[in-house]
Amino acid sequence: MWYRRLCRTPGSPGHVVGRIETPGIPRLDRKSVKTIGKVANLEKRTAEQVGLELKNGLGIAHTRWATHGFPSEENAHPHLDSSGRFAVVHNGIIENYQVLKKHLQDQGVKFASETDSEVLSHLIAQCYNGDLFDAVAGALKKVTGTYAIAVISSEHPGVMVVARCGSPLLVGVGSGEMFIASDAAAIAGFTRQVIYLNDHDIALVTSAEADIRSLDNVAVNRNVSCIDWEPEAAEKSGFDHFMLKEICEQPEALANTIRGRLDTRAANARLNGLNLSPYELARIHRIVIAACGTSMHAGMVGRYYFEDLAAIPVDVEQAAEFRYRNPIIQPDTLVIPVSQSGETADTLAAVREAANKGAIVAAVCNVVGSTIARESGRCIYLHAGPEIGVASTKAFTCQVSVLLMMAMLLGRNRRMSYQAALELIAEIENIPQLVREVLETRSHIETVARKYAKADNFFYIGRGYLYPVALEGALKLKEISYIHAEGYHAAELKHGPIALLEDKVPVLALANDLPGKDKMIGNIQECRARCSPVIATATTGDLEVEDMVDDVIRIPRCSQYVAPIVTAVALQLFAYYIARERGCEIDQPRNLAKSVTVE
Ligand code: M6R
Repeated sequence: MWYRRLCRTPGSPGHVVGRIETPGIPRLDRKSVKTIGKVANLEKRTAEQVGLELKNGLGIAHTRWATHGFPSEENAHPHLDSSGRFAVVHNGIIENYQVLKKHLQDQGVKFASETDSEVLSHLIAQCYNGDLFDAVAGALKKVTGTYAIAVISSEHPGVMVVARCGSPLLVGVGSGEMFIASDAAAIAGFTRQVIYLNDHDIALVTSAEADIRSLDNVAVNRNVSCIDWEPEAAEKSGFDHFMLKEICEQPEALANTIRGRLDTRAANARLNGLNLSPYELARIHRIVIAACGTSMHAGMVGRYYFEDLAAIPVDVEQAAEFRYRNPIIQPDTLVIPVSQSGETADTLAAVREAANKGAIVAAVCNVVGSTIARESGRCIYLHAGPEIGVASTKAFTCQVSVLLMMAMLLGRNRRMSYQAALELIAEIENIPQLVREVLETRSHIETVARKYAKADNFFYIGRGYLYPVALEGALKLKEISYIHAEGYHAAELKHGPIALLEDKVPVLALANDLPGKDKMIGNIQECRARCSPVIATATTGDLEVEDMVDDVIRIPRCSQYVAPIVTAVALQLFAYYIARERGCEIDQPRNLAKSVTVE
């Protein structure tokens, strides 16, 4: 059934979808069905109440990520006005909803939910004067906040009005049918032609066309783009989970990220999306990386690259804080937003702040045509293919690879020698093979993971290039297994967290044979002295760590530049197998959304 296919993309709560087929839907066929939990529950209930297929008509659906009000049927979308004529699905937050709600209630409007979104349906009903487009535009002029909405009305069969401000929305152009969705992955199985809406766009969509305008009713032109990956890329292809599939396809994803970007003749990286001349590159004196979650951890690895290879000072900013902190940005600052989805609200806000302050902005994104990619003006795409599992895996390793290539480019523009660059190129080209070697050890990692699957608390410790990887490993574990996991710099343990160590608290120590290993051995001893079981990553062939820890995960020998990528893959597998052993919902962990489009 159409909405199941549109909504089923795991990790898409908070997204809106809709479909319009041939015009005309008999009034009596109008139905609204809501459930809590999985889309499968909705499928079952819809089959009981309506039948399985949308025939000759239009529909909207929404998988809610709760912001205002508990996950309940009352709070589920669509929200209808009191007359039941206008139905709205909404992704985002209406920030002034309390004022609007009070105003509507004073006029006698009864609310059926605790959500902010419901004000929209009542406002549209109030603004309605026979024209749905005008009513929606009128209502939107009263709200502040973020939205991607789809509105249908029993007064206007075959017509949908959609609009966006701050939350992603696209129109899929089919043959005799149109789709709307928050994410291209939801509609890739129906059409490859998509129109990305900009903020403040509002469109009247029928089965034949999308008439896109500004809120003030001025026509705007938006290009039709083509989804650049096959719909099968968004299938599980025989794997139990998207996460495992995405972990395992990293050799290919990384090869795609790297392909065509290394120039052995010039001993340099070629990053077309960056679009900066050697003169402009030389003028960059500071780099700010703004990102959230896993992408921020990738940015933290990037800091080491830029400082080591190009000697450029780098700040890594939690994107949510960037805008509110009034950051110091100068014309010679390069701001790099890093985002898999290209839609993360906080990272987008950082992009806008940086652009306003006159920075050069160059994004690292996976999703082609995403808002961050477009608004940054410059974007280096990962080409990792769609990442469906909520836990980011292949995006992380591909982001780190892009940052490494960027650092090489800036390094060559400054002090990096031809020979050093050639050596680095050889290492980068070998990344897919090294990752393959880690994947070959997955049954051993599974055995180790199962041994620790009952732990309630975990520490991950790392130093140098592997410090951000420790943070990322802990994030992976907590988000999919619900084990409380903390990532720390190994030296920081003794400044407080060591108080928590005991025999029931395992420590995963990143002890690869890299600079800082001797210090890490000392840190491992400190953990053992508190009776914590220790699992260590160690370089293949390096036996020094083996005798002092409980379990070892082997990482192929590689330099510190490549080690974060290769080691992260082992930690992804470790988290995955623990979560699987615990019977967790790996692709759709509780409370999480794949792209976080609210602040
Ligand atoms: O799409 P983005 O890379 O901007 O997303 C940022 C974070 O929301 C994301 O990395 C999140 O931390 C992942 N669930 C981690 O696996």
